Amino acid sequence: MDNYISIKKLSKSFDENKVLDNINLEIKTGQVTSIIGPSGSGKSTLLRCLNKLEKPNQGEIIYNNTNLLDNKVNNKQVLSKIQMVFQSFNLFTNLSVLDNCVIGQTKVLKRDKDEAKTNAIKFLEKVGMKDFINRNVSTLSGGQRQRVAIARTLSMSPEVILFDEPTSALDPEMVKEVLEVIRNIITKEQTFIIVTHEMNFSYEVSDTVIFMDQGKIVEIGDKSILKNPKSERLTRFLN
Ligand SMILES: Nc1ncnc2c1ncn2[C@@H]1O[C@H](COP(=O)(O)OP(=O)(O)OP(=O)(O)O)[C@@H](O)[C@H]1O
Ligand SMILES: [Mg+2]
Repeated sequence: MDNYISIKKLSKSFDENKVLDNINLEIKTGQVTSIIGPSGSGKSTLLRCLNKLEKPNQGEIIYNNTNLLDNKVNNKQVLSKIQMVFQSFNLFTNLSVLDNCVIGQTKVLKRDKDEAKTNAIKFLEKVGMKDFINRNVSTLSGGQRQRVAIARTLSMSPEVILFDEPTSALDPEMVKEVLEVIRNIITKEQTFIIVTHEMNFSYEVSDTVIFMDQGKIVEIGDKSILKNPKSERLTRFLN
């Protein structure tokens, strides 16, 4: 059976503020979807609902035939397959690069420590951080931290990788290196959902582009909507 994510009638409010308003969305395995939209449109909240950092008020998130919002779902097991890369890295700054990439594997996935280390080093090499494995994270630049965060995420063998503005906390010269790393890790074996303000990058990597405004999906299509938007709102946003 195909893996997929199916979001049905998803709504989320913070008090009176309706942040997600009846979102319906299907995402196929192996696809790259980017989410764009103005500040406050609900992009992060949508991602956070997908790995249960937020609890929606209504709706369903079906992943591989399981409704993630069902209380019976084994959170740790299901959610380990859906990993997020955050704008602010969310690394343990008091731990080494290697330990940051090992700890989730041993604690959540119950992997043997040596196996976890070997796996972590493989991905640290992939993101160009192998020479830094013993460094304390606090001594790294933002771009280096984000590359470690990406290696940590890959070490967890996720099926779905969520990126929430992975480059927006970085200095311009570091944006390039991190986007290059993301380009290199995209495979058809995993599903990528990327919230980004990098329109050229989005155009380059996306199978599907979603434009959100005020908690709604205003426009969705292939990457061509970035060049030829249909809605007046997306046209205005891109200008
Ligand atoms: N924990 C929270 N409590 C109250 N309101 C929240 C919370 N998280 C988000 N919001 C509100 O929900 C709305 C959508 O926020 P969200 O972070 O999803 O937007 P966004 O599209 O990711 O914006 P940005 O581009 O600035 O990151 C905003 O009005 C925000 O203030
Ligand atoms: Mg956000």
